[in-house]
Amino acid sequence: MPGRRGDPVIERLPLRPLIVEAAARLAEAGVGSPMPDAESLAAHLLGTERMRLALIPMVEPEIADRYRALIEQRAARIPLQHLTGTAAMGEIDLAVGPGVFVPRPETELLFAWALAYLATLPRDHAPIVVDLCTGSGALALAIAHARPDAEVHAVELDADAFTWARRNADTRIAAGDTPVTLHAADVTDPALLTPLTGRVDLVVANPPYIPEAAILDPEVADHDPHRALFGGPDGLDVIRAMVAPLARLLRPAGATAIEHDDTNGGGVAAILAAADFVDIAEHPDLAGKPRFVVARRRGL
Ligand SMILES: C[S@@+](CC[C@H](N)C(=O)[O-])C[C@H]1O[C@@H](n2cnc3c(N)ncnc32)[C@H](O)[C@@H]1O
Repeated sequence: MPGRRGDPVIERLPLRPLIVEAAARLAEAGVGSPMPDAESLAAHLLGTERMRLALIPMVEPEIADRYRALIEQRAARIPLQHLTGTAAMGEIDLAVGPGVFVPRPETELLFAWALAYLATLPRDHAPIVVDLCTGSGALALAIAHARPDAEVHAVELDADAFTWARRNADTRIAAGDTPVTLHAADVTDPALLTPLTGRVDLVVANPPYIPEAAILDPEVADHDPHRALFGGPDGLDVIRAMVAPLARLLRPAGATAIEHDDTNGGGVAAILAAADFVDIAEHPDLAGKPRFVVARRRGL
């Protein structure tokens, strides 16, 4: 119905120029992926997907104002996922925010390897999987979603991260996934998950692995928890200390996949070799950098 005389006229604004303006602002602020981030934040605000933004050509001025405010937060280098509240792993979305590590796309490669490995196991028993350093629960919950037959355990030491993992685990249970068992524990504890000793088919881990002196983007340095990032002077402190409990958990010929810093592939492989692991293999990320190592506990 046309507005009556005297009604305030609300001028709607074209969305695409707003997004282009936002991407320029993010580029100026040093954000690494300005256009994808500008589109993702527009999609988040409008409750749609990035690929469907073209279906919303015009927006109200109030939406434009809120969008610009959101862009200013991103320009201040608050992580995109803290602004949208979610990050993906496999087929699931995880709630993330202050106090927990934001799952990264490169970990999808380890996740894909883990699923491929589980698919090779005989179906004579439910596979047991342990995710060490679970953070938001990303790997454990994505594996439980993809493999409902698996018994999945996840270990996290940090109380804030554990709270996010619990929240995500509850969300996945409500969505119908097989529950993951969360353990508030230290992955370097020699008594870690003692009842699972010698029974685990696969241990996955994306532990803290950045060398202390590394210089990081503000999104990482100022927003991911310190404990989630750093692994001592060479980045290997947690990996070194967790390998003995990890080896004890695995059944003979059981496998592990450990993500690591791109400077440290050889270091992790050497730690595994010294712990008598076999079939040690390095896997690169999409940029061709060494990203995770897989190995097997020696068979009987
Ligand atoms: C790099 S984050 C990875 C989180 C998750 N696996 C992911 O890929 O998104 C490492 C996690 O390990 C946890 N952590 C660090 N040291 C630990 C320890 N000794 N025992 C258990 N968890 C630990 C941190 O709190 C953090 O949540």
